[in-house]
Amino acid sequence: MGDIERSWLTNPSRRAAIARVAGLMAASPIASAAAQIDPRPMGEHRRALSLAEMQSAFDFEPLFFGNVSQSVYDYTGHADGSEWTLRRNRQAFGWVDILAARNPVPASQVDLSSTILGYNSKFPIWMAPTAQMVALNPDGEMGMFRACTAASNTLMILSANTGTQVEQVAPASPGGTLWAQYYPQENLTTTQASIDRLQNAGCQSITVTIDQTASYYERTLQDRNLGGRGGRGAAPGGRGGAAAGPAPAPAALTGAARYRIGAGRIWYTWQYIDAVRKMVKGPMIIKGIDQPEDALLAIQHGADSIVVSNHGGRSMDYGASTLENLPAIVAAVNGKVPILFDSGIRRGSDIFKALALGANGVCLGRAARWGLAAFGQAGAQRIIEMLQQELVQTAAAAGCAKLSDINRSKIKVNFV
Ligand code: LAC
Repeated sequence: MGDIERSWLTNPSRRAAIARVAGLMAASPIASAAAQIDPRPMGEHRRALSLAEMQSAFDFEPLFFGNVSQSVYDYTGHADGSEWTLRRNRQAFGWVDILAARNPVPASQVDLSSTILGYNSKFPIWMAPTAQMVALNPDGEMGMFRACTAASNTLMILSANTGTQVEQVAPASPGGTLWAQYYPQENLTTTQASIDRLQNAGCQSITVTIDQTASYYERTLQDRNLGGRGGRGAAPGGRGGAAAGPAPAPAALTGAARYRIGAGRIWYTWQYIDAVRKMVKGPMIIKGIDQPEDALLAIQHGADSIVVSNHGGRSMDYGASTLENLPAIVAAVNGKVPILFDSGIRRGSDIFKALALGANGVCLGRAARWGLAAFGQAGAQRIIEMLQQELVQTAAAAGCAKLSDINRSKIKVNFV
């Protein structure tokens, strides 16, 4: 009998069992998410930590694993192809050094507030749109929105693939800021209806995601071939969203399967964005930019801001990390619009590096999902606050009292 089975026999509590399984999973190079190259402190603990004991975002990941079904875990963890870009997104942060300041500032004097597209933030950290949160925890999108608001009014972008209707989420957290994501739908009448619905529900800005047109979740498909689960990155738990675009057909079920590309999103054009621009009353953000030329085209076609993103490695394998792509995009955009950044952020120091390379703010995806899945709304809030605090700590150590102090002179970049 193995240790885990023995502990189940001698200690019937679910919490203890989860702790053992989580510890084992965290320590196992086979079972742990391939993307995680950072130390995973939970693996060194004999029990599941309480919320108050969480030290870093990574502490939440094994509890997330323990709390959700395999398909939900896979959906959050997997990425395109061999997942090189998923891993590289994380690794790139390691290639940027933070230079110790001769004159550090006290953390209490660090003020990282700013205004982007009319939204006043205390910290330059937003919640990225990620799908189907009810499958992570019953608190779902409403819990995530409340967590964001409780964490110094962090702005949340609701996913087009939300598990809770936008009309329910928007009023769930009075005083909070909810914007919405939108996936292009070829039919302009449907597009208008979807965008109107989001705007009528109170979302003052629309983020149009333009990447992830032809992605392929090899790891998930391999699992399916083994007689199991998964498919082409299909979100678990149904499609409750107001503006959920047509899901790309599972590649294995279409004629395109032999070429591994679904037909769902490969029709995108800049003319479509022109049409959407007319429908969006407030700021339009274009998400999924990883090349300077596309950044300029997005601005030319009416983007008020862009998100430098490779969809957490879910969009296209063997692209560079977003951190490597960021400097050339910042140079090309040259201050014309604010630049947001995502893909791979797990620590405040990651955020510092993206800001130093020219991003105006960052968005959290997987890390916040770990928090929600581990402890519901309270866990999501803790993750956000942890990253806020870590960012302040890093800024203080690097001698940055305000956002504009965080610049290229504070780092050394070791990728070319
Ligand atoms: C994904 C889509 C929903 O990443 O954005 O699966």
